[in-house]
Formats: sequence, structure tokens, C-alpha cells
Amino acid sequence: MLLKIVLEIIYKENQRKDMPFRHNASFIMSKYIIKGGKPLAGDVIINGAKNAALGIVAAAIMSDDMVTIENLPDVWDINVLLDAIKEMGAIVDRVDRHTVKIVGSMCSSAVDNENMRKMRGSYYLLGALLGKYKRAQVPLPGGCNIGSRPVEQHIKGFKQLGAKVEITYGGILSAEAESLKGSHIFFDIVSVGATINVMLAATLSSGVTILENVAKEPHIVDVANFLNSMGANIKGAGTDVIKIRGVEKLHGSTYSIIPDQIEAGTFMLAAAATRGDVLIKNVIPKHMEAISAKLSEIGAEVIENDDSIRVVATERLSSAQIKTFAYPGFPTDMQPQMTTLLALSNGTSTVTENIFDNRFKYVDELTRMGASIKVEGNVAIITGVEQLTGATICSPDLRAGAALVMAGLVAKDFSVVEQVEYIERGYEEFEVKLRSLGAEIEKVPDDVDEITYIKKMRLKSIS
Ligand code: UD1
Repeated sequence: MLLKIVLEIIYKENQRKDMPFRHNASFIMSKYIIKGGKPLAGDVIINGAKNAALGIVAAAIMSDDMVTIENLPDVWDINVLLDAIKEMGAIVDRVDRHTVKIVGSMCSSAVDNENMRKMRGSYYLLGALLGKYKRAQVPLPGGCNIGSRPVEQHIKGFKQLGAKVEITYGGILSAEAESLKGSHIFFDIVSVGATINVMLAATLSSGVTILENVAKEPHIVDVANFLNSMGANIKGAGTDVIKIRGVEKLHGSTYSIIPDQIEAGTFMLAAAATRGDVLIKNVIPKHMEAISAKLSEIGAEVIENDDSIRVVATERLSSAQIKTFAYPGFPTDMQPQMTTLLALSNGTSTVTENIFDNRFKYVDELTRMGASIKVEGNVAIITGVEQLTGATICSPDLRAGAALVMAGLVAKDFSVVEQVEYIERGYEEFEVKLRSLGAEIEKVPDDVDEITYIKKMRLKSIS
């Protein structure tokens, strides 16, 4: 109780200060104006992994003690999740932009935050609350519009642990159990979300749970490591089989999130596309292997250090055949950025999307910039062109938005990328980082007249 009061005082103090981070989850409609043609050069520091952070923040509320999470990215998805747990009664003290202290002192096991419907990671609260309180109500997840995104594997896992799960009025996923008992669960498909969600619930079940055919993404290992640092007993994360010996409760912990593999990959590909020279810092090179290997294969120089990767490209790269797969395969979250790079490479490439059924929506936008891409089913056939031309284009989702910015950076003349809110769901200060690498990119409110703005930018560059 005393701890709660102290933290509330700290929290209120922090609210009074002019906070350096944007700990609020409201959208301000904005667009990027980009003048293409500058090679990216310099150093960039990668933030903590958004997808790991979603699982870790959810896991944090499973303890009644204070948990300190470091290297937290300041992105929309995470800020919405923090708001949602605060609304439920958790104490959330954002110590600085990348550190948060959380006490899972919820007075409710029902999530009631409208923004939560817009993000995918909201469903992790279901596993966390079900594990802790044996009941949970969470709005059905939204997230990027990249195809149908069912959750039946999550539901199957919860049911096998002994929960009753149903979808109630208003699209609420509701789960309840008298008690959760360890079980042997074989997932029908490899799902990142189902692996993490069922692992969360099983952590506070009785007995042993074996999860088979699980996903092996680095952020699954990170969530498992975090849970173990709180006293959980989870073995095998990062392999096909995870074994969880349930514990009664979790204690406090201090934990630092791994670097974001997809943010790092995006900067690697942007460096290559602009024929630049960029040192990408705070990465785990092992996590980047699928991307590094493809970049080397098509002619970029990729130099791996202990915790950084340098990407250098001096001439036009060659074509490649890409197929997205679960980790350690080529990540679907890097597919739009890779397609954009190959749109400028020499020769014909193919990109096969194996994970999501509607992840080529951005291709129309690239085509309007002069790319030559034909989509047949889940395959994009790309005939590389020498140059793209600037255009006004619209981000259809998070990663495609980043890919369109890449296209703007290499295109002739000016481009306007609309709906940057999507990009801000997962990239912290994307345009600021790109500017520090020499890109000419400005973020302006949606209602700014881009023609006048571009005229001013032209005059500025002449003078
Ligand atoms: C996570 C990532 C997302 C990434 C994706 C694949 C988070 C918050 N998001 O999403 O950025 O693109 O992994 O690497 O970590 N599926 C089912 N039934 C289910 C669950 C999944 O059919 O119950 C299908 C999905 O529709 C998809 C495939 O399985 O076709 C993989 O999805 P999944 O790994 O679950 O992705 P997410 O966890 O949603």
C-alpha cells in the first residue's frame, strides 16, 4: 500500500513536469515530405523491440511487486498499452522516455480502452490476466490491415489449460477458469502471438505445460527471459518446444528489452536502397542473419560487429528471390521494405509472402512512383527499374509505411507520405533518425498545404 502511494506521488510529479517523451497515445494526423536522392550516411541507434515490449509490459502486470522495464520504445502501440493497464488500476511510472516502473495492482481484469482495438498486442493482456486472476476480458485485437488475423490458436491453448473462452457482445474476448492446469498443447500453426499468450497464462498455472510447434522469434525468448527473471520456470524458448513449470506468483524484476530487429532491418535496407553507408548500433547481429544474408547476396557490403552492423552500398544491387517464413526465416515484417529495395535492383526478383494473406497493398503506391511490380496471389514479381519518381502516397500499414518512406528517400524530386500515424505505431522518431543520417524529410501536420511547403523547401535548397 505504501509503495502504491509513493509511486502515485512520483507519477503525479512527473505529470507536472514538461516530459521529454510523448507518453500519450493520441494520434495527430501528419505526413512526411521527403526530397529524395540523398544517400544515408552516419550512425543510428536502434530502440527496444516493440513486439517484445508488448509481451513484457503485459507480463509485468502479473506481479504485485514493482517491475522496472528498460529500453522501452516510445511508440504508439506501447503507449496505448501503458494507458490501458493504468486505466485498469496498475501503477505506471514512466521514469524517463525509455524506462517504466509498473506495479500490477489492478482493480479490474477487464480491458476497456478504445485504442486497444487498433493494435494486435492487446491480446497479450488476455494471457496475463487469465494467468493472474483466472479471468479476463479484452477487446478483440486489431492491428495492421495485412490480411485476416484469427486467434483460434490462442483460444485453443487457453481452453487446454482449463479456461472457458468466448467472444461476447461488442467483440470482447472473454476467458475464465476456476483454476488453470498444465497441459500438453500442440499448436496447429506456428504463431508468435499464440506462443506468447499461452506461455503467459501457463506461467501461473499448476503443473507442467508443454507447448509444441511454437514460434521461435527473438521476442518470444525475450518475454520468456523476462518472466524467468520474475521467478517463472520456462525452458526451451527459441526452440520448437517450450516447457513451463507453473509457479504460484511472480516477483519484481529489472529487465532491459532486446533491440528491435525490424527497426534495425529497415535502416539496413534504407542504407542499401539509397546507396549509403550506415552504422546501425544497438543490434544483435544474430537476429539479423536472414536480412544480412540477403543484402550480401545482392551485392551490399554488410559488416557485423559485436552489437552493430554497417551496411554499405556503392552501386545498384542485383535481384533476389525472397520467401517470408517464421524466424529464423526472412521476416514478413521486412517484406515491404525488401520489395522496395528490389524494385530498384537490377533484374527480376520475386517476393513470396507466406505468413499473411493481404500484405501487398502498398505495391499500388510503389507502382505510382514508377516501380514495375506485378502481384499474383501471394507472389510479387518485380522488374527492377533504375529510378523512382516522387509522388503523394499513403501508408496502408506500419511496415509498408516505412517501405514507402524508403521509396521517397530514393525517388527523384519530392514525395509526400500520408498517414504516418501507422509508422509511429512502431518506429520511434523515424524522421528524426533519418534526418540525422542526411535525409531531407520533414513531418508536418496533415492540414499543411504540401505544394506551398515543397515550394519553400525548393527555395531553401537553392539559396
Ligand atoms: C506477430 C507480430 C507481427 C508479425 C507476425 C509474424 C506482434 C505483436 N506482432 O503477429 O508484427 O508480422 O508475428 O511474424 O508480435 N494465425 C492463425 N490463428 C491464430 C494465430 C495466427 O491462423 O490463432 C495465423 C495468422 O493469421 C498469420 C500466421 O498465423 O497468418 C502468423 O501469425 P502470428 O505469428 O500469430 O502473428 P501475430 O502474433 O499476430
